[in-house]
Amino acid sequence: LKLFETNLTGEFFIMKVEIKYPNQEFFATVSEIDIKCISDDDFLKLEKVINSYGVTVIKDQKVNDEHQIEFSKKFGELEISIGTNTKKENNPYIKPQISRISNVDIRTNEMIPPNDHKVIFDRGNNVWHTDSSFKPIPAKFSILSAREIPEEGGGTEFIDACYALETWKNNNRKYSLEDIKEAITEHSIVYSRMQNTGDIFNDKFKTDMPFVKQRLVRTHPYTKRSAFYAGSHCSHIIGWDKDEGRNLINEINDWVINSGEIASHKWNSGEVVIWDNRRVQHRGTGFDESKYRRIMHRTTVAGDKPSYEEHVNI
Ligand code: OGA
Ligand code: MN
Repeated sequence: LKLFETNLTGEFFIMKVEIKYPNQEFFATVSEIDIKCISDDDFLKLEKVINSYGVTVIKDQKVNDEHQIEFSKKFGELEISIGTNTKKENNPYIKPQISRISNVDIRTNEMIPPNDHKVIFDRGNNVWHTDSSFKPIPAKFSILSAREIPEEGGGTEFIDACYALETWKNNNRKYSLEDIKEAITEHSIVYSRMQNTGDIFNDKFKTDMPFVKQRLVRTHPYTKRSAFYAGSHCSHIIGWDKDEGRNLINEINDWVINSGEIASHKWNSGEVVIWDNRRVQHRGTGFDESKYRRIMHRTTVAGDKPSYEEHVNI
């Protein structure tokens, strides 16, 4: 189903949908819904919008963790956060389904110093990536809610890796899509953070988070369009010379961010943004962590199976 309309009239609500890049069917903004009490009918429409456009901004929401989890569970099973200060079992301050991206200590409500490992870890999000590609079953949707935003900076950018794949064939490349469409890569968050933030992990984290296999090209089950699937966690290609594979991954990562337009989102407090990790990459734009507070809470909808079990159709 293609949704080009700007107004989808529901049975109970009128959901307003605006598309930023209609030629790419990329980046929707939805208003006039309340995710705390969304009807089943509107939920189905919203899910179609998210599947169709990759990123969906939902304006004017005021949600707490319970609301966010309740809403997120409608899309499927939720991941348990690996977040450095949220993962502890029986943590009374935060639910395990919430990834807190923040320089504010949840226990004290005080700012965390910029050289603290938690702040450094979160800064790793400022490199283009797709969430949880370092897990054996990678994430489907991420649902990020702005609880407190800095006065300056702290935006989030998105890019369409589907558009990047569809425009790859127009270029004079060493490898065609045919050559690489069945390639299997390995991803690791220890690898990516080592590149971007330095060694901030203990041995237990390193052994708990080994390399996992992912497809380099994934076909979206709803749109049937394919996208590159790489980003910062993607290290090398199985069965390839390591440098040759890494060069190709770098070339793809480069093309992903240079092929289409970067959608830059400036947050309003209370907004919720949902993105499809199977199709888009994202990154934080950074902010002055010594000066401003930023509190973002993410829920993450788990995928259905390992990506290498998926079929690719180009
Ligand atoms: C995330 C993420 C970027 C940001 O929550 O997965 O990468 O701007 N966030 O906080
Ligand atoms: Mn992320």
